[in-house]
Amino acid sequence: MNTTLVMNAKGGVGKTTIATNLASYFAVNGVPTAMMDYDPQGSSLRWLEQRAPEAPHIHGADAAPRNGGGLKSLGRFVPHETRQLVLDAPAGPSRLLMQELLVRANAILIPVAPSKIDIRATANFIKELLLVGGVRHRNIRAAVVANRARSSTAVYEPLERFVRSLRLTFLTHLLDSEVYVESGDTGYGIFEIDAERTAEQRREFMPILEWLDQDAPARVESPANVIQLVHPRAS
Ligand SMILES: Nc1ncnc2c1ncn2[C@@H]1O[C@H](COP(=O)(O)OP(=O)(O)O)[C@@H](O)[C@H]1O
Ligand SMILES: [Mg+2]
Repeated sequence: MNTTLVMNAKGGVGKTTIATNLASYFAVNGVPTAMMDYDPQGSSLRWLEQRAPEAPHIHGADAAPRNGGGLKSLGRFVPHETRQLVLDAPAGPSRLLMQELLVRANAILIPVAPSKIDIRATANFIKELLLVGGVRHRNIRAAVVANRARSSTAVYEPLERFVRSLRLTFLTHLLDSEVYVESGDTGYGIFEIDAERTAEQRREFMPILEWLDQDAPARVESPANVIQLVHPRAS
């Protein structure tokens, strides 16, 4: 099983958006896929609830600590046949939770929004991951994804330099787009929504898929080969 952790100290930066789109991509390619939602807000599980029953199945596991049992009694169970597991982390994970997540992860995606405050917070978070999380020692690969980018991506340049100076990867810029909002609302990923309308988003997501494919045991097909699934609600 290959496990991808989507994490940042900040909220609202696109962790759930990237986690759900990644899971949908694997599922559409016929790869047995599961998501573990560690966020008490349960956004990934809510996204899965929106997903139509006929869409390729993604197993949802509720890993968030909370009082009173949570959304559903999904539990933390992940089916043994799972080949791709995506972990959606909460904002500001405690050191203890971070350790738990890092024990599971093969790769970490760190989304960052374009504000200077978010960028500074992310630089500190990356330092913490390396120092406290022992990411290098554990041989976990880590990469940064600029999210909700405007057409000018100059604001990210200092972060890109910082990330590269640490020999980590700066993968891609995902532009601010209504397509991601639609994906969040419908339970479909960008690879399941009309190909023409999502061409730009699919292209900018590619570097994430290629980078993950480097050590993923489940072969990831190129998006050109993705089965085109267009559901009436998503088109
Ligand atoms: N690239 C994007 N373009 C437009 N809206 C986005 C984009 N990425 C995320 N969003 C929206 O921003 C909000 C926060 O994103 P979310 O993925 O829930 O962040 P997090 O999980 O880090 O808190 C959501 O409403 C989501 O639909
Ligand atoms: Mg979230």
